Amino acid sequence: MQYQSQSIAKTYWLGALLIFAVQVLFGLIGGIIYVAPNLIPVDLMPFNEVRMIHTNALVVWLLLGFFGAAYYLIPEEAEREIYSPKLAYVQFAIFFLGALAAVVGYLFHYYAAEGRSYLEQPLWVKLGIVVAALIFLFNISMTVLQGRKTAITNVLLLGLWGVAIFFLFGFYNPANLSEDKLFWWYVVHLWVEGVWELVMASVLAFMMLKITGVDREVIEKWLYVIVATALFSGILGTGHHYYWIGAPGYWQWIGSIFSSLEVVPFLGMMSFTFIMAYKGRRDHPNKAALLWALGCSVLAFFGAGVWGFLHTLHGINFYTHGTQITAAHGHLAFYGAYVCLNLAMMTYAFPNLLNRAPYNQVLNMISFWVISAGVVFMTVALTFAGVLQTHLTRVQGVSFMDAADQLGLFFDLRLGAGVVTVLGVFLFIFSIIVPLKREAIEPGHAIGAPAE
Ligand code: HEM
Ligand code: HEM
Ligand SMILES: [Fe+2]
Repeated sequence: MQYQSQSIAKTYWLGALLIFAVQVLFGLIGGIIYVAPNLIPVDLMPFNEVRMIHTNALVVWLLLGFFGAAYYLIPEEAEREIYSPKLAYVQFAIFFLGALAAVVGYLFHYYAAEGRSYLEQPLWVKLGIVVAALIFLFNISMTVLQGRKTAITNVLLLGLWGVAIFFLFGFYNPANLSEDKLFWWYVVHLWVEGVWELVMASVLAFMMLKITGVDREVIEKWLYVIVATALFSGILGTGHHYYWIGAPGYWQWIGSIFSSLEVVPFLGMMSFTFIMAYKGRRDHPNKAALLWALGCSVLAFFGAGVWGFLHTLHGINFYTHGTQITAAHGHLAFYGAYVCLNLAMMTYAFPNLLNRAPYNQVLNMISFWVISAGVVFMTVALTFAGVLQTHLTRVQGVSFMDAADQLGLFFDLRLGAGVVTVLGVFLFIFSIIVPLKREAIEPGHAIGAPAE
């Protein structure tokens, strides 16, 4: 760690990891309800609430992770301390307490949700998020403006401003259901298939710069190409959510064509990480961070690119819309792109933040394989379930519940893989937080320390 204020990231990432654990545990509860609906009393934990906590906790901890990544990366790129560390901690408190209050409130049935997946926070929590976001943007923008400006910080700032701007559509909640959905996708889609990709590309670029030692000019060229293709395809690609919600028919073609092109930036990011790793002359000691970064780009390519393309053409989506195929895609895409990205950055930076030697690097790498195997297996099980479900309900016209009866085996398999995933997550957290005695060394020898 070169700059004092980079340690802000530690607070954000520890908070993120805590919510990550909660998120996967609620996934597990959801998986149990699928398999044994009467095990947990319905009024104690109805499925819709369990699902809501699972998906909302996911978004919240990923955002906390991004904030942490920004606080860690910007001082090194801008070559100066964060403008105001105090504001950064205030922002954390608002965001984290808001998230906790929302979860606890839902668990005790304190308020009803608005029925907009991922955006089910009550209004006062949303307002808190906006205040926190404004503090954050002010703080990092001031830091960048007063420091060295690089392609990485420019793209990261663009992405993070976009995250905040699109969140504002979460406040506009029209009564007309078609309009409601139209704007809801402005947030959800334009986040994960738009501005979050900019965050992903810039964080990967930072990591590849540090780990491989490839020239900054080369990395920047890749970064610009990835950003251009992401925005070109992702914005009109929103159309793939407008096929069946009562929007004009031309969206079927616009959505099909542009969302198919969304595969390109993910292919770009995968090529980027591998070519940089291949070209890189530097033998960086943090092998685990490189593994996560490569794994991130590969699994994102499959989860978002391949599993996304699978059902994105309107002729196919007509049959598969809202089936388990969507859930299969949702898991692998979120995991590959954004979970892995955060875990990669944490794996890279935590040893520096905690002043440790390669720490539990082997354990950390094992956790990569365990979590990834778990999520990939869940995805495959859900894909089979989805294909069968599509055939039964949309081709043969079997009723929804009768078809569900025939999918039991796949839900058992999903639960089994879910248990593996959760164990892997705890292994990851353990490897990051608990030091290995024999590897504890004096400050200054921490791995991942900038070699430039
Ligand atoms: C990392 C990027 C991505 C993430 C995190 C992601 C995540 C998701 C999630 C969670 C859903 C379900 C939303 C809901 O209905 O509640 C969804 C739907 C969908 N995604 Fe993605 N996605 C990504 C990229 C892509 C890409 C690149 C494509 C196309 C090539 C794609 C195609 C689709 C389609 C067509 C649907 C609608 C499914 C339906 O009709 O039920 N996604 N995505
Ligand atoms: C890093 C790990 C995980 C990520 C990124 C993740 C992500 C998601 C997402 C995006 C959805 C919404 C899907 C959609 O809209 O179609 C979802 C739903 C769900 N997830 Fe996960 N999840 C993870 C781990 C788990 C685990 C370990 C389980 C345990 C079995 C699980 C079980 C479920 C269940 C049961 C649902 C509800 C599906 C439905 O509505 O039918 N998830 N998850
Ligand atoms: Fe989308």
